[in-house]
Amino acid sequence: MDLTLTESQRLVRDMAREFAEREVAPRARELDKESRWPADLLAQMAELGLMGVAIPESEGGAGMDHVSYALAIEEISAACASCGVILSVNNSLVCDPLHKFGNADQKRDVLTPLASGRALGCFGLTEPSSGSDASEMQTVAVRDGDHWVIDGSKNWITNGPHADTMLVFANTNREAGVRGVTAFIVAAGTPGFNPQPADHKLGIRAAHSCTMFFEGCRVPESAMLGNEGDGFKIAMSTLDGGRIGIAAQAVGIARAAFEKAVAYSHERHAFGEPIAKKQAIQFKLADMATQLEAARLLTLRAAWLKDRARTEKLRHTMESAQAKLFASEAATRITHQALQVYGGYGYSEEYDMERHYRDARITEIYEGTSEIMRLVIAAKALEG
Ligand code: CAA
Repeated sequence: MDLTLTESQRLVRDMAREFAEREVAPRARELDKESRWPADLLAQMAELGLMGVAIPESEGGAGMDHVSYALAIEEISAACASCGVILSVNNSLVCDPLHKFGNADQKRDVLTPLASGRALGCFGLTEPSSGSDASEMQTVAVRDGDHWVIDGSKNWITNGPHADTMLVFANTNREAGVRGVTAFIVAAGTPGFNPQPADHKLGIRAAHSCTMFFEGCRVPESAMLGNEGDGFKIAMSTLDGGRIGIAAQAVGIARAAFEKAVAYSHERHAFGEPIAKKQAIQFKLADMATQLEAARLLTLRAAWLKDRARTEKLRHTMESAQAKLFASEAATRITHQALQVYGGYGYSEEYDMERHYRDARITEIYEGTSEIMRLVIAAKALEG
């Protein structure tokens, strides 16, 4: 088994790392403190092809594979987890389903601007009263001639306040259960589609999210993605990809915290020597390094399977869930221990550590909680 990256994967990783260290990292603390949307950085990342990494060039993307995508998200997230999730949502939750399920017109008119970074997307599945139990959505779309009228609300919509396009899931046939959900592409500015003010959050503060209200929002038949009733499967298979992005984001956050803890342990002296000489610190660093590597390997394996799924009939639902579950919980543990190595300075806003600690926490919640990941994995394991 050869785990060596290809030349092009290394180039994408190195390009993203160089950009993240030079342009993103120096700004991350300030963006977080001011909850400021990183508009200028996103424009630069679009130039680098990071808004549609694994989308074919003919559809506006960079034409790379999903392993490259995961590597890029790790690099950007190590500098700024907010930037990481903004990219992840656009790439995985919006561009990917448009690429997989969109028709030629949707690919030309909607996907190409999103994948090239001329527009930004968001994904509307979660509702105020249905997060984990996604099929219980209350948002409805009712046919009216050659249009559909959407009513309801979606919340925690990352990128929502700035998005040009939303992929929204609505119930079009209540009796049909999960087979009564349909996906629609809704453009910002459509009458009756009303984004609310940005949420206030514990972490990823520069990645704005908001609630979206739909009040008699009319969209044409051509706004439907896939077929009527296919929406739930589109959402679930999209999340199989999205969870790889969040796993990569968690790996990036954890790596940043780990590397800072290592550096600090050399600088900080206690009882006459650097704390790096103390076994108490060495054991923490050893656990962090091992969990970080395991998280990265699970993430890259899921990304590699997603690449294989382009030409082979295979599902990576379990592997994506395993990557997200392990990487997100590892990020929480690693940032917790890294902050402990920093001691009081880790608790101070003068350093990045408290930001990494806060940012890690969301990775266990969005795009499927750790509890839902365990249910998904157990269901697959029990299938035998
Ligand atoms: N790919 C394709 N189809 C799938 C699938 C997948 N991965 N998973 C399930 N399906 C299909 C099933 O085959 C089934 O189809 P049939 O009826 O034809 O057999 C159908 O979908 C229903 O499947 P389930 O019975 O398993 O559905 P369920 O209602 O029990 O729900 C669940 C399963 C795993 C709990 C699901 O609801 C889930 O993943 N919940 C979490 C939702 C989530 O991750 N939300 C995150 C929101 S996005 C976000 O956070 C974005 C952000 O801003 C960052």
